[in-house]
This record gives sequence, structure tokens and C-alpha cells, in this order.
Amino acid sequence: MKSLIIAFVCFLGFSIANAATNLTQVMATLPGGGYLMDMGVDENGLFSITDLKGNPIPGYPFTVNPIPAPTGAGPAGSSNGTLTKTPDLWGCNDPEEVNQADWTWAGGELSFWCYGSNMVPKKRILYWIKNDSIAYICNYVGAQNCLGTEYWSYMQDIASWCGANTCGWFLQGSGNKSYGRGIKGGLSDPLKVCSNIQN
Ligand SMILES: *[C@@H]1O[C@H](CO)[C@@H](O)[C@H](O)[C@H]1NC(C)=O
Ligand SMILES: *[C@@H]1O[C@H](CO)[C@@H](O)[C@H](O)[C@H]1NC(C)=O
Ligand SMILES: *[C@@H]1O[C@H](CO)[C@@H](O)[C@H](O)[C@H]1NC(C)=O
Ligand SMILES: *[C@@H]1O[C@H](CO)[C@@H](O)[C@H](O)[C@H]1NC(C)=O
Repeated sequence: MKSLIIAFVCFLGFSIANAATNLTQVMATLPGGGYLMDMGVDENGLFSITDLKGNPIPGYPFTVNPIPAPTGAGPAGSSNGTLTKTPDLWGCNDPEEVNQADWTWAGGELSFWCYGSNMVPKKRILYWIKNDSIAYICNYVGAQNCLGTEYWSYMQDIASWCGANTCGWFLQGSGNKSYGRGIKGGLSDPLKVCSNIQN
């Protein structure tokens, strides 16, 4: 009986480990709030999104398709997230636009999180979702702090360069971090802008 139970538990564990879900479908229903996501797949080919406490969101592990490094659409990130850019770079994700009210809410939450002296973990993307709008930070190096004032100041630049509501990103000259605004699942989704992942 004992070995039967063990066999069953092993079977269950095996099934769960293989129940990889499609990220596109998971993202489409992801509720508003703050999340941390990987810059790319790990050494086991897995891709993770967690809540801000580090709990993987339901549906993990995800199947994702690595894609060639983005050109033009976002920072020239390599698949391992290594960037050596100087000076600052920025770009627009025409014609995608955020909903002002939603994005402002998301950006406010992101700023508040940064203000609380939280660190963006090594090579992870911090993002806040409200409906379809996303406020995000991509961290290409080790754990780093972030600043809400910096976020708004870059986004003001993006608004004047790209258009009042147009999505865009700003990559710091150090290559350490980019800040941006985007649309869930769109070209301006940090999944596409910062990492070589297609959901
Ligand atoms: C995920 O689902 C979408 C649409 O439902 C599909 O286009 C895409 O190919 C799927 N991706 C994978 C990795 O199965
Ligand atoms: C990371 O990417 C850089 C730039 O493409 C490349 O030179 C380097 O070899 C990569 N490192 C790993 C561990 O893949
Ligand atoms: C955004 O979501 C809220 C509920 O969280 C809803 O009341 C509101 O109508 C939504 N806005 C848009 C533009 O869909
Ligand atoms: C960028 O990150 C590196 C490695 O973490 C750090 O040594 C450097 O001080 C950072 N530069 C800036 C401008 O934050």
C-alpha cells in the first residue's frame, strides 16, 4: 500500500511537472497587480512568473518560444539579458497605446513599491498590470533598487517623444535597467521588449 501511495504521488508530481501551460492564455487572464518575471528561460528551459512574494502564478511551468533578439522594437537585448549600452537608448512601440487611467494606476503602484525600498531581483522584470496596461522595469544585472521619480521622469520623455499615450521604453546608458509602459501581450509587452520570449 505504501509503495502504491508513493507511486501515485510520484505520478502526480510527474504529471504536474509536465503540465506546462501556454503563457499567452495565462497572460490573457492575469489579474491586475504586481508580478516578477524572468528575462528568459532558465537552464531547464522553464520560464517563471511569480507574485511579488515569489509564489509562481497558477499555470507554471510555461511553454515559451525563444525568439531572435528584438531589433528596433525594443532594447537590443541578448537572449541572456546582457546589455552593454551607452549612452541612454529609448524607443516607441507604435501604434500601441496605454489607457491613461489604467497605466497611471499601474505606474503609481510601481512607484510605491520602489519607494518602499524594494529591490528588483537579478535579471527579472518587475511589472504592474491594470487591465491591459503595464508599467514595468527590466533589470539586466544584479539586484537593484528603483525609483518612482525616475519612472515618471522617463515616461514623461516617452510621452513627448512617442505620443501622449504611446507605449515605449527607456534604457539607461549603464545598460542596467529599462523602464517602460506597454500593453499586455502586445509588441510593447516587456516579454518582447526586454527578453527574447514569445508568449
Ligand atoms: C499558445 O497559444 C497561442 C494561441 O492560443 C498560440 O498561437 C501559440 O502558438 C501557443 N504557444 C505555444 C508555445 O504552444
Ligand atoms: C550572453 O550574451 C552575450 C552577448 O550576446 C554573449 O557574448 C555571451 O557569450 C552570452 N553568455 C552566455 C552565458 O550565454
Ligand atoms: C479596468 O478594470 C476595472 C476593474 O478592475 C474596470 O472597472 C474598468 O472598467 C476597466 N477599464 C477598462 C478601460 O477596461
Ligand atoms: C550597473 O550595475 C553594475 C552591476 O550591478 C553596478 O556595478 C553599477 O554601479 C551600476 N551602474 C549604475 C549607473 O547604476
